[in-house]
Amino acid sequence: MRKVPLAESLRIIGRGSSNWLANRPIVVSFEVTDACTCYCKHCDHGGPRDEARNLRPADYRRYVEELRPCVVQISGGEPLMREDVVEIVRSVKNGSTLPYTILVSNWSHMTEEKYLALRDAGIDQFSVSLDFPDERHDDFRVYPGLYRQLEDLIPRLAKLGHDDIVLNSCITSENLGEIETIADKAREWGVNLCYSAYSARRTGCRDYFPGSPAQLAELNARLDRVEARRDSTNWLVNAPSTIQATRRYFATGGTPGCKAGLRFLVVTADGALQPCSMQFKRYSLAERDRMIREFTAVNRCDECYVSIRSYLDKSFPQLLWENVSGFLSVTTSK
Ligand SMILES: C[S@@+](CC[C@H](N)C(=O)[O-])C[C@H]1O[C@@H](n2cnc3c(N)ncnc32)[C@H](O)[C@@H]1O
Ligand code: SF4
Ligand code: SF4
Repeated sequence: MRKVPLAESLRIIGRGSSNWLANRPIVVSFEVTDACTCYCKHCDHGGPRDEARNLRPADYRRYVEELRPCVVQISGGEPLMREDVVEIVRSVKNGSTLPYTILVSNWSHMTEEKYLALRDAGIDQFSVSLDFPDERHDDFRVYPGLYRQLEDLIPRLAKLGHDDIVLNSCITSENLGEIETIADKAREWGVNLCYSAYSARRTGCRDYFPGSPAQLAELNARLDRVEARRDSTNWLVNAPSTIQATRRYFATGGTPGCKAGLRFLVVTADGALQPCSMQFKRYSLAERDRMIREFTAVNRCDECYVSIRSYLDKSFPQLLWENVSGFLSVTTSK
């Protein structure tokens, strides 16, 4: 994974430290639309939605100035459905290196031209969902031709050499057997890989949760073999402690200690603050403290271990160390 230059890493760490002390979020996820091009089996989005009340690109500046996040995710629904997504990114970045900005997308609407325009606007990392290393991806996402589009575009864009593409693979009982072949695919395409974990909270469906003894044994054996392939290029983006915590999450059926609303939060397409994408209590931008008091302080939900949580459940020293040594990967090279 592309290493963040030293000066930029220090700026991120500086802002992270002050946010931690001031109880401001480290990561903000902007769900820029609720609509989606897919109908994935594991997700509650899918298909068209009413877009009339979506925030406009210029509105995002106000949220970034007030919340001052270190990291922003531009997500959805499917963010590339917004024709003004490049302007949204410009509004978030405002010509600065901060916040470090990740586009979380299924890439059904990605083109080389859009990739370059989004990079130019300030996207630092492209997170592309991949559930299977072949056409089964289309079946799971209910989008014929999606895998072909990825297979054509990803290796081609990787060859441009920006090293900013990360496959994002949500582990479910359906793709448990593909943990290693998805890693092979990331290597073959010349991109990075980040695993995340299925939560039944989105749809209520427990069938995709790999929790039986046989499934857990398979999960652990396959993750062991992928872990053995970790190297200094940071192509396996999850920290070792995050992989460990993911194993525990599946083994115990949950992960307590969630800091949703405090260390991270979601801004919905129409501009409300929500603790996370699976908790639908809505607050205005001015009511962040109320969200922490009413939600975070008493929250006992342990039902997911998605990436946004996995980075932020840690103690501040551990987070700082892992950011320095892994996720942001300080280097003095450009
Ligand atoms: C909600 S989607 C939004 C962005 C975009 N549409 C995409 O699929 O990448 C973000 C990520 O959430 C993951 N996801 C969807 N349903 C999930 C679930 N029930 N548990 C965990 N992750 C889930 C998807 O696989 C995807 O990688
Ligand atoms: S996971 Fe992403 S692509 Fe699939 S339905 Fe949900 S929002 Fe859409
Ligand atoms: S564990 Fe936290 S982030 Fe996950 S669904 Fe529950 S409240 Fe949301």
